[in-house]
Amino acid sequence: MQIKKVLVTGANGQLGWELTQLASLYPNFEFVFADRQKLDLSQPEQFEKIINSIAPDCIINTAAYTAVDKAEVEKELANTVNALAVGEMARVSDKLNIPFITFSTDYVFGGNATSAYLPNTLVEPVNFYGETKAAGEQLALDANKATIIIRTSWVFSSHGNNFVKTMLRLMKEKESLNIVGDQKGRPTYARDLAIATMKVVELLNAGHSIKGIYHYANNGETTWFGFAEQIKKIAELNCILTSVTTDKFPTPAKRPAYSVLDTQKIENDLSIQIPKWEDALLECYHKLKA
Ligand SMILES: NC(=O)c1ccc[n+]([C@@H]2O[C@H](COP(=O)([O-])OP(=O)(O)OC[C@H]3O[C@@H](n4cnc5c(N)ncnc54)[C@H](OP(=O)(O)O)[C@@H]3O)[C@@H](O)[C@H]2O)c1
Repeated sequence: MQIKKVLVTGANGQLGWELTQLASLYPNFEFVFADRQKLDLSQPEQFEKIINSIAPDCIINTAAYTAVDKAEVEKELANTVNALAVGEMARVSDKLNIPFITFSTDYVFGGNATSAYLPNTLVEPVNFYGETKAAGEQLALDANKATIIIRTSWVFSSHGNNFVKTMLRLMKEKESLNIVGDQKGRPTYARDLAIATMKVVELLNAGHSIKGIYHYANNGETTWFGFAEQIKKIAELNCILTSVTTDKFPTPAKRPAYSVLDTQKIENDLSIQIPKWEDALLECYHKLKA
């Protein structure tokens, strides 16, 4: 099917904002960017009317309840936004016979693996946020056979709140910091993920069959401590960083100790090479400085 109009939700989030920045590079598509005011994911019953009035040829849902710790308390809202709303958006897109692209997380996995998680590895979330995202995946896959789920991890961008910006601020404010060194994952630059997402849209538009679950994260793996060390190096800061174990940082939501995603499937199906996370971080840092 031909894709002309692309509806993007979560326009003010890291990924949604990166898509707004890329839009002019894709003049063949008309983008409709929806923020919380235009499309509130806590009100799924309103989707059908709103989406029908926009009449998109494809939906990219970047909006999500992403406050991992708060989700342990605001359970109903987190579940509505991450699960029920995603299922409903998939249902509405199925009725329109259009593809539905949505995003999920490495936190759907349990964290006991010793090699990278494949898209078809069974999910086993250890926190409520992960539970809601896993439920959203299933609802979307059940409601629209043309659903594409892209799981990602440790997202950063020059826009919004993320580990990179928090670390840069704290490393300037404090002489020393303790950083968790026993959780392993793959940092992801939202801009690179946005480019890969647009590649999906281009391939769908060209008639390729892309559906089901994919993993996208920047190349390489590290710990939060390793990530912080690299941020310190790039920004030439002097803050003393100490690697500590997770038990020194009690949080309401448990985190998986290991959440490295295997990205081979998306690299093959999209014919892309994913940039190394260190290079992506450098690019993001230059954007922040500018
Ligand atoms: N951030 C990560 O480290 C990470 C890791 C793994 C997976 N992911 C997944 O990747 C995707 C993109 O994440 P991101 O990093 O871009 O997230 P983000 O920066 O936290 O942005 C999320 C966006 O969702 C919007 N949103 C929240 N509740 C909403 C509601 N009720 N109605 C409408 N919009 C609402 C927020 O709106 P406001 O701007 O108005 O608050 C925000 O713009 C999400 O599916 C997320 O679960 C993220």
